[in-house]
Amino acid sequence: MSGNIATVSYIGATILFILSLGGLSNPESSRRGNLYGMIGMAIAVLATVFGPHVTPAGISWIVGAMVIGGSVGLYAARTVQMTQMPELVALMHSLVGLAAALVGFASYIDNSIELVGAEKSIHEIEIYVGILIGAVTFSGSLIAFGKLKGLIGGKPLLLPARHWLNLAGLLTVIWFGNAFLHAESVSAGMIPLIVMTIIALLFGIHMVMAIGGADMPVVVSMLNSYSGWAAAATGFMLSNDLLIVVGALVGSSGAILSYIMCRAMNRNFISVIAGGFGTGGGKPAAKSTAAEPAGEVVPISSVETAELLRDAKSVIIVPGYGMAVAQAQHTVYEITKFLREKGVNIRFGIHPVAGRMPGHMNVLLAEARVPYDIVMEMDELNDDFPQTDVAMVIGANDIVNPAAQDDPGSPIAGMPVLEVWKAKTSIVMKRSMASGYAGVDNPLFYKENNRMLFGDAKKMLDEVLVALKT
Ligand code: TAP
Repeated sequence: MSGNIATVSYIGATILFILSLGGLSNPESSRRGNLYGMIGMAIAVLATVFGPHVTPAGISWIVGAMVIGGSVGLYAARTVQMTQMPELVALMHSLVGLAAALVGFASYIDNSIELVGAEKSIHEIEIYVGILIGAVTFSGSLIAFGKLKGLIGGKPLLLPARHWLNLAGLLTVIWFGNAFLHAESVSAGMIPLIVMTIIALLFGIHMVMAIGGADMPVVVSMLNSYSGWAAAATGFMLSNDLLIVVGALVGSSGAILSYIMCRAMNRNFISVIAGGFGTGGGKPAAKSTAAEPAGEVVPISSVETAELLRDAKSVIIVPGYGMAVAQAQHTVYEITKFLREKGVNIRFGIHPVAGRMPGHMNVLLAEARVPYDIVMEMDELNDDFPQTDVAMVIGANDIVNPAAQDDPGSPIAGMPVLEVWKAKTSIVMKRSMASGYAGVDNPLFYKENNRMLFGDAKKMLDEVLVALKT
């Protein structure tokens, strides 16, 4: 393939990636967005493999690597549970970081390109920065994987003078960067490069270890952003324009997602990076200033729930992590279909951080074929709760916690929540009185107009469906 055809293919692939990102911003166009992304990636791979930079002997290496990598990816994608998705994503990010670091070392050792003067310095800066970002992404993502999988505790590790340690690390990296650029030979440059890599690996570990369980979603999307910048740095090292553009797209979209998630959790981006928030366990992350929620919880049966739903004119369903665990989305759809046929105005309220990954609830509801036009974002229907007869909370907890608004001392104070307690009746479906991800008690359970439907969400909803139909 000539260089020109490869360039045109790269431009085509870039346009498809941009269309893909645009498509993914809306559930209705997300399938199309995915398709654009897949076609773009196929074009990009073919244009690279058959492009002018790959020798025929190199193709067999690439095909071999693709068969191995593709098989592992296919196996992982087929076997991974939806709830394990964030772990898989974190692991994938670590591979991007590792690849960037290895490409950096390879291009430094590679003596086939003779560069001099400013060009040489620019190439070496690309290598240094590329390995730096790659190594931070690699070790940070591995720690994030360990935390999400529960191999490492969610409690933040707060070393004394940790900010000073980070600052010392940064200054050392700059100092060794200077030594690297002035190295006389490749072997002399290797020492500062390796020292910097070790510091970057330690920094990645330290950075993510200091971040508490409650901030992990932001960390995963932040590492997603880092992996994009690592790919862009690799593009600079290899003089591959497509990798630069795609890396920048991933890097910037990951950064925007991190910002959106910080806003949804009412967290300041800098304080997330600075770390120290959230335990990730079942205990409260910080002591609340208000009294512990008290009072009686009023249980309800599935038959009574069905009666309330049947008599309602408007219903809002708020799904959360528990719906994913119970795999209750298909029964939720059956109930939705039944009630819609009876003329009930039924809608879904989706919190930006419901579940354990961005878009978690949207994916599950789309899988169950819930129509997109009744799936709303939190801001779109929060004002409608006072006119709603029944708000049904399915396996959600933190995202419907009124303490976020009422208790300034609560660890989730200021986080926007779905105001289900403003409906005439709210029904919370969960197995026990246990707390949610943030580990805080929920005063909603004790409200006068709230009912608790205890049990596994799938089992209880199956019972509600039977009761509705009989
Ligand atoms: P949570 O606050 O974690 O609450 C989920 C509730 O589901 C639990 O209280 C649990 O109570 C219940 N549950 C678990 N299994 C169940 C089952 N089989 N049947 C019925 N109920 C079940 O979830 P949420 O309200 O969706 O909030 C999400 C939280 O996760 C937020 O704090 C968010 O910051 C955090 N987070 C979000 C993300 C993203 S990006 N979405 C990523 C990581 C963390 P029982 O044990 O009593 O049943």
